[in-house]
Amino acid sequence: MKKDLLKLLGMTREEILLILDTADRLKAEHKAGKKHDFPAGKTLAMIFSKNSTRTRVSFETGIYQLGGHGIFLSSADSQLGRGEPIQDTARVLSRYCDCIMIRTYEQEEVETLARYATVPVINGLTDFEHPCQVLADFMTIREYKKRLEGLKICYIGDGNNMANSIIAGGLTCGMDVSVACPEGYRPDPKILEFAEVQTFAKFELTVSPAQAAKNADVVFTDVWASMGQEKETAQRMKAFQGYQVNDELMALCNPGCMVQHCLPAHRGEEITEKVFEDHANEIFDEAENRLHVQKAIMYLLMGGK
Ligand code: CP
Ligand code: NVA
Repeated sequence: MKKDLLKLLGMTREEILLILDTADRLKAEHKAGKKHDFPAGKTLAMIFSKNSTRTRVSFETGIYQLGGHGIFLSSADSQLGRGEPIQDTARVLSRYCDCIMIRTYEQEEVETLARYATVPVINGLTDFEHPCQVLADFMTIREYKKRLEGLKICYIGDGNNMANSIIAGGLTCGMDVSVACPEGYRPDPKILEFAEVQTFAKFELTVSPAQAAKNADVVFTDVWASMGQEKETAQRMKAFQGYQVNDELMALCNPGCMVQHCLPAHRGEEITEKVFEDHANEIFDEAENRLHVQKAIMYLLMGGK
């Protein structure tokens, strides 16, 4: 493992599978009421510049279950909110804590934090990627489908942080990835460049949700306006008409096709109430797996055996 977990782009299949295998083991140990073999007393600083329910609670619970402690820092009421540079925050937190998790806007801020921190840094969502979420999604897919390699996954909607992580991670794990986005809402050019040159699996980018969904084993979607894009909501509602995961779209997929949604979901927009509820078990298993996968990431980055 590298020092930090900043993005799925550039990770190897072996690194991803090590996290998923460790997550499976920690989940089984936790369900069996067994103590994890991890040094006690580690602290995790958690910096949030955006809202969160799942990420905050699963990281804080996760470090506690590993025998450590989580410290919540909202950028609004820490010195970050008054302009203290991220470089200095990195060096200060490294003197107190064993690991730093950050949720923010620019990927560059996370990369700078990691460069200056002497402790591991974990990306808890940026505008560029949401790696912890997509690792939890892959853990869930493996639980249901017993494999990753050879599956076809599709993503319907905005070419956002989720789309970027699904493409980078999915192809690296040997899954064919098909993405349907409207023109003007495509995934990041760096991700598309990787998708075009890689030779692990097939990649398709289309404007047609029906084309992307054809014979899919897993359908992903996400909100049409992400955090920070609230002002564009009206314009986005128009642009994404037709990019909904509904029964008609699901009928084009393979039998037993799963649905994954990182949550929060906007029923009636990117997904219908019916498809959401038909696949609620998979979606809430996905949410639960955030806990197990992030424990695995912290375990591996902080030297668990
Ligand atoms: N999926 C996810 O990251 O949820 P939160 O925004 O609630 O953390
Ligand atoms: N794309 C969404 C994901 C939320 C977990 C956002 O960035 O707001």
